Amino acid sequence: MSWFDLAGRDLIAETDWTREEYDIAMKVTDQLKGAYYSRIPHPTLEYKTFAMMFFAGSTRTRMSFETAMTQLGGHAQFIDPQTTRLSLEDKPGAGETVKDTAEAMERYCDGVGIRLLDDKIRYYGEADEVMQKFAKHCRVPIINMASDINHPCQSLTDIYTMHEKLDADVRGKKIVIMWAWSPWIRGWCSVQGTALISSLYGMNVVVANPPEYDLDPRVMQDCRDLASASGGSFEVSHDLDSALDGATVVFPRNWFTKDRYEIGKEKEAEIAKQYVSWKYSAERQKKLGNPGYLLQCMPVDRGNEADAEVCDNRLSWILDQAENRLHTQKAILTLTMGGRL
Ligand code: CP
Repeated sequence: MSWFDLAGRDLIAETDWTREEYDIAMKVTDQLKGAYYSRIPHPTLEYKTFAMMFFAGSTRTRMSFETAMTQLGGHAQFIDPQTTRLSLEDKPGAGETVKDTAEAMERYCDGVGIRLLDDKIRYYGEADEVMQKFAKHCRVPIINMASDINHPCQSLTDIYTMHEKLDADVRGKKIVIMWAWSPWIRGWCSVQGTALISSLYGMNVVVANPPEYDLDPRVMQDCRDLASASGGSFEVSHDLDSALDGATVVFPRNWFTKDRYEIGKEKEAEIAKQYVSWKYSAERQKKLGNPGYLLQCMPVDRGNEADAEVCDNRLSWILDQAENRLHTQKAILTLTMGGRL
């Protein structure tokens, strides 16, 4: 494995890259973050263009990628797919195919980012299929900026942030990814991504959720396999308060049931209302280890997923975590779109 092996690579699922490759990405993140704070210019991608297709909304992902490309000396092109010729239906008469779109795009740019999830897809797995199709037809790297299944840029940020805050010592630390009530009804990508990357790095991972909210069984099996290889552990609990006991890190987040695309959002909201007490609060913070920290990818539903008090106190990492999106994505872009001189 060499650093240059990441040149030209896609990043669609957390499992696309090995532990060694994530280690390299974290080393490059350190270098680029150091350069940023030392005001040392780092134009690793001069004259290069990253095309960003946002089918769904974003605050952090759009801004951090756009800023990343500016600081790397290149350009980020924001594309609202609704204003293009593309149709995901991929059938005669519907619009331009993914194949033609991808093959044309690679003539203009050096990498393509795609965000596709939630209401913009018809069934779980569709966004991943679309990204795989882009990857098949596009010779430049495809970077997943959040899909229905994975959110690898967020996941790298989460593990980087935990290494940074815990003095590079995450192995054996307990992280609880807890379902939290919210009327927003969120997807699975962030929680599944954090579970995968934490398992890869040997953490003791507990996913705590009401019985209706078990995550993708294939992803959970991947977590078990990764934890077994890394010396960590992975378990699912339906008892929130005992799950939180002694945790170093907690990630409270709403997510929908496996039936979301069959039953619709209203039925989802009815199921969720049974569990309004599933919230991260100052009282629950006391159950964690001493200290126990808040990791949350944002946006956070303050007052529902987590009380404002725990979002804003000294044990909350959320804004440093948001900033780290910039630094980790600069590493991903540099390694995949840059390569050696
Ligand atoms: N965490 C995250 O992906 O945030 P945005 O949805 O604002 O991009």
